[in-house]
Amino acid sequence: MSLKVLIVSSEVAPFAKSGGLGDVVGSLPKALQEKGVDVRIVFPKYRTIKNQFLNGCQYLSSFDVTLDWRKQKADIFTLNNSVPTYMIGNDYYFGRAGFYGYEDDNERFAFFSKAAIEFLDYIDFIPDVIHCNDWQSAPICLYIKDRYSKIKYFSNIKTLFTIHNLQYQGIFQKETLSMMELDENYYFTNDKLEFYNCVNFMKAGLLYSDAISTVSKTYANEIQTPQYGYGLDGCLRCRNKDLYGIVNGIDYEQNNPANSKKIYANFSPNNMSGKAINKRELQKELGLPQNENTPVISVISRLVDQKGIDLILQATHELLNKDIQLVVLGTGDYHYENAFKHLDYIYKDKVSANILFDDTLAQKIYAGSDMFLMPSLFEPCGLGQLFSMSYGTVPITRTTGGLVDTVQHFNKETTKGNGFQFQDYDANGLMWAINQALEVYYDKPLWEKVVQNAINTNFSWANSADEYIKIYKKITSK
Ligand code: GLC
Repeated sequence: MSLKVLIVSSEVAPFAKSGGLGDVVGSLPKALQEKGVDVRIVFPKYRTIKNQFLNGCQYLSSFDVTLDWRKQKADIFTLNNSVPTYMIGNDYYFGRAGFYGYEDDNERFAFFSKAAIEFLDYIDFIPDVIHCNDWQSAPICLYIKDRYSKIKYFSNIKTLFTIHNLQYQGIFQKETLSMMELDENYYFTNDKLEFYNCVNFMKAGLLYSDAISTVSKTYANEIQTPQYGYGLDGCLRCRNKDLYGIVNGIDYEQNNPANSKKIYANFSPNNMSGKAINKRELQKELGLPQNENTPVISVISRLVDQKGIDLILQATHELLNKDIQLVVLGTGDYHYENAFKHLDYIYKDKVSANILFDDTLAQKIYAGSDMFLMPSLFEPCGLGQLFSMSYGTVPITRTTGGLVDTVQHFNKETTKGNGFQFQDYDANGLMWAINQALEVYYDKPLWEKVVQNAINTNFSWANSADEYIKIYKKITSK
């Protein structure tokens, strides 16, 4: 009998994605399926899902979900996808403009968590493992352990909780507990859901799951320290024996410069000539001078503190005194967006700030740049550096989290290494790494070597899927 796994997430690419979580849940299940796991996915049916994805969408059935005195209908839908994919619909909770950031996010995701358990009764699927991701589905771990395990249908289900980013924990007021039908006297303590006099959803995942994983080995170690633990390092140290680090992969079918239809010209490790065409066309499309010798350095990122955007801004004037072009794509904090718009305005021929997210433009930038900046303050795994390498674009990263596990600093003597790295979180460190990269850039044979090392780096899902399967088996045999 094959292992049955339900993956629950608030994002699944390409249907609903705001960041790396969506990419991961959009690609890991396929790899699990290829290895024989009977895997299914469930996520909320947001209003913003594009019509093109809803073409094959079918309504299955409905049931009521109660949260204390509240009663809301959950509609079950299926989608056209190679992995069986379900959506939980409820217009009151999910018929809104964005995914998160609403005052009642606690209620919305408590509803989703409960619905994602109860809908199993209606689709006739009893998973061995429910694999939850980030705070939005963390309550499932608690509900299964303390409540549903007493119901025969659910009694053997185990849970794995994956942390994609410990910074976002889902912290809400105390009253959240009664809404979730959880006794305050029992659950509002520090060894359960209480966190600085609030309720912390992530703690439900950390304390009630059968195993915890995060998206790189280095981050798994880092989050057990106060520096990276965001107040939960104690909890994580307690569960140290059940905590695993499994590095993310990427989908090389979607990110293959040899056959991508989204880029200007195709290329491959054996024939890189198309990369120069991509650079030229990108410069043209973005209104930058078409100079093949000027290094194009790109940033594709959520523009938030985590990503080290402040370091880039501190370094810009020194950086822009050099013969380089800086291309930015992404949205985020207003002051970062504005700072890049301002630089674009001042340095017209050197900076292109694209304050939006567009997957096609992202691929064009990955393909057309020489270097990719990712000086993160912390980075659970990071996918940008993997995407950039798959397009032969050399990453410049800080040694933190998954960036440590996926990027090695290029050594000019041994010619080993697929990128450039710096350690200290300051603009000097970043400039040091950029200067190292530029030095190699002007030495053509050496640059070709680092580009080859980058494009030949492989982080496909196959190995990581095996590691997840090992955990699934371990917790189900307990
Ligand atoms: C979050 C993390 C990122 C990770 C991604 C997928 O977005 O910030 O580092 O790669 O989740 O796991």
